[in-house]
Amino acid sequence: MDQNTKKKRVAQAALEFITPGSIVGVGTGSTVNYFIDALAENKLDIEGAVSSSDASSARLKALGIDVYDLNEVSSYEVYVDGADEVTQHKHMIKGGGAALTREKIVAAVAKTFVCIVDDSKKVDVLGRFPLPVEVIPLARSYVAREIVKLGGDPVYRQGVVTDNGNVILDVHNLSIIEPSELETQLNQLAGVVCNGIFAHRNADIVLSATDNGVERW
Ligand code: 5RP
Repeated sequence: MDQNTKKKRVAQAALEFITPGSIVGVGTGSTVNYFIDALAENKLDIEGAVSSSDASSARLKALGIDVYDLNEVSSYEVYVDGADEVTQHKHMIKGGGAALTREKIVAAVAKTFVCIVDDSKKVDVLGRFPLPVEVIPLARSYVAREIVKLGGDPVYRQGVVTDNGNVILDVHNLSIIEPSELETQLNQLAGVVCNGIFAHRNADIVLSATDNGVERW
């Protein structure tokens, strides 16, 4: 089965967690795009969504789904988002689409984080996928030097400006044995807005599409 078919199937499977009349937290990326399409196609009659990126907001609105400002919504049950890597412990690397900061915020408010992936994203140890770090532009070189001291190999993602007006460093050659510790450590660097390790707020449920159906852990 090709990867796009798997993404579509896992997006469809996530509908099981959506209650009509509710507000849904919506992530960013190609897998989530299938989820947004499925939400609209299945006419689940949700009240609306809170969104983690301008791109997802535009897609939601184009399909007739209301998008609320997060400041207007105090809680919602479910946040659905993809990941670049996910472990058995439900720790993730996210931010391949540069939306990590808003994703972490929208995930923080949700009661349940449902992570939707195809099985290529499952890993034993995080770090093969370069870790995205969102940085205030002024701090880019300083943060890059500090990351080298931590053993990483940061690469400036050229031509990308986040929805928050910042830049991304993709950190190669990390083997992230202790995700919570590294997440905290990176957040201590002056100029770092957010990093793509989701360990403190990991997923609650992972749905992973395989050739034999959708696995859940
Ligand atoms: C965007 C993300 C995405 O969830 C992640 O990159 C996975 O994307 P895709 O579903 O396209 O593989 O974190 O910032």
